[in-house]
Amino acid sequence: MLVPAKEMLDKARAGKYAVGHFNINNLEWTKAILQTAQELKSPVILGVSEGAGKYMTGYKTIVGMVNGMLEELNITVPVALHLDHGSYEGCLKCIEAGFSSVMFDGSHYPIAENVEKTSELVKICHEKGMSIEAEVGAIGGEEDGVVGMGECADPNECKAIADLGVDFLAAGIGNIHGKYPANWPGLSFETLAAVKEKVGELPLVLHGGTGIPADQIKKAISLGVSKINVNTECQIAFAEATRKYIEEGKDLQGKGFDPRKLLAPGTEAIKATVKEKMELFGSVGKAE
Ligand code: 13P
Repeated sequence: MLVPAKEMLDKARAGKYAVGHFNINNLEWTKAILQTAQELKSPVILGVSEGAGKYMTGYKTIVGMVNGMLEELNITVPVALHLDHGSYEGCLKCIEAGFSSVMFDGSHYPIAENVEKTSELVKICHEKGMSIEAEVGAIGGEEDGVVGMGECADPNECKAIADLGVDFLAAGIGNIHGKYPANWPGLSFETLAAVKEKVGELPLVLHGGTGIPADQIKKAISLGVSKINVNTECQIAFAEATRKYIEEGKDLQGKGFDPRKLLAPGTEAIKATVKEKMELFGSVGKAE
């Protein structure tokens, strides 16, 4: 059964580790992540962006697929199904479809509007027993070929959003989605410490987990980060393994063109990436 992400993240914050949020794109992704979490006895969060939601034909399809897998694969570790960077309307759709958690990303609105919309969604989610993440300070990333540096959140604005009763908070600390440019100055631990000071025990979320050096991940966890989002790294691992298979001409040997064979190396590569991250984040064995 899907569970909200609040309890697993409260435990992670208290235990000084982080739970991985891994974005899913299709059946292979979902299966790879769930099997790895089960094998390592780790809690896990499956993230779905609105774009990936559309790609997989809609939120109801995803809920059906994930619930089916939890049962058929005998998954017993805590799993949350979470909307990633949702719009107000997207959150409502996921609440309706049977997700167990949503993120409302109001970071592009003026703070008063972010507060208003977040507060409405907190009420709706909590009535349904779901968890909700909010965001302050936009996470940068590549848009039309231009890589924007991540913003640093204003700690007072973080407090305003935290006080609405959100279950965990994404605060921009110079992190960005996708690969980090060579001149990236690193995470702003000053901002992270200032945010933590204002929001107390609230679990914090680090987006843009791809490519952040291990020492910075560990420091971020020690300063209150309890959820780390990873997407691009699984995509790169999948693409590299698939490319190798094709370049070695394996799709041309026997029934190597069978999608169950063609997609297998990529699926294994996702598993290896997820395992590496769970070990780094310290969540292995925490679901025992
Ligand atoms: P990356 O694609 O950089 O790993 O970021 C993932 C993310 O933050 C999803 O919300």
